[in-house]
Amino acid sequence: MTKRVLTGIQSSGVPHIGNYLGAIRPALEHAKESEGFFFIANYHSLTTTRDRSQMLAQSLDVAATWLALGLDPERTVLWNQSDVPEVCELAWILGCLTSKGMLDKAHAFKDAVAKGKKDVTAGLYTYPVLMAADILAFGTNVVPVGKDQKQHVEMTRDIAQRFNNVFGETLVLPEPYIVENMAVIPGLDGQKMSKSYNNTVELFLPRKKLRKKLMGIKTDSTPVEDPKNPDVCNVFALYKLFSTAEEQADLGDRYRAGGLGYGHAKHELVQVMDRHLAEPRERYEELKANPEEILTVLRHGAERARKVARETLDEVRDRTGLLLSRDIS
Ligand code: TRP
Repeated sequence: MTKRVLTGIQSSGVPHIGNYLGAIRPALEHAKESEGFFFIANYHSLTTTRDRSQMLAQSLDVAATWLALGLDPERTVLWNQSDVPEVCELAWILGCLTSKGMLDKAHAFKDAVAKGKKDVTAGLYTYPVLMAADILAFGTNVVPVGKDQKQHVEMTRDIAQRFNNVFGETLVLPEPYIVENMAVIPGLDGQKMSKSYNNTVELFLPRKKLRKKLMGIKTDSTPVEDPKNPDVCNVFALYKLFSTAEEQADLGDRYRAGGLGYGHAKHELVQVMDRHLAEPRERYEELKANPEEILTVLRHGAERARKVARETLDEVRDRTGLLLSRDIS
């Protein structure tokens, strides 16, 4: 049987290289031989975004991004999370089986508390339960995510197991899928690329802006003529993600030989990244200029996704005794 692969991408902020390499690219690869279910996680974004027009714009941005990067909407189901409200229904039911102790350990919430964040909401706290519902509503087999989301997929398995133990085999246990060598994408300062570190490179920057951004990558102060170690260089780490094995070996040799300045290495990085992103960038601009095309895809996706979620919910409601009669509802 073909596996069902599902992943969500948050619509808070313009998608960056880390989102692409950590989630989008592996998910699209996976979708080639499986049944892809991808959605814009706007309910999750509501934990941080409180601006209507920003929410709307970002959701369209994310959809345009996936389509521009090669998602085939005939093959793969793409929708906006809130167009399938069944996941909220399932989240409540699963929440009733989720221990508080487990949620206390979830890192998004723990980090917020550790940082002394004032506005810690119930939404942030129960975020992993909604994520479990996202995954379980669609009978997902595989969830391609960045390393930071692995804990959430493990919690999803726990919650599903709990449900199945209590009410009988109903929910499919998902596996996380992490692309090991690219699970953590370095940002401009060498830390994990993340909006919260302000070190991201947006995916569809025009070439000039991309260049300017990449020129700002942090490097050490080894003089041009000295040999350099590519394996500890932020420029090289990004270069590796966009180049062929041959190109990597070649640039690596030039690092070690000395005489190569970081400015030059950055220039080569701009070349390989631009080669990779020029076409999707153009397609992205086209889609953005024609949102009706995006909305048509999302409408169709929501219909297909909702049908699957409805079936899961019917069974869950029946198993739990919430469903008195199929004639009501
Ligand atoms: N929490 C994920 C992130 O921040 C987004 C997400 C929401 C998700 N629901 C999901 C990812 C379900 C995979 C499966 O990246």
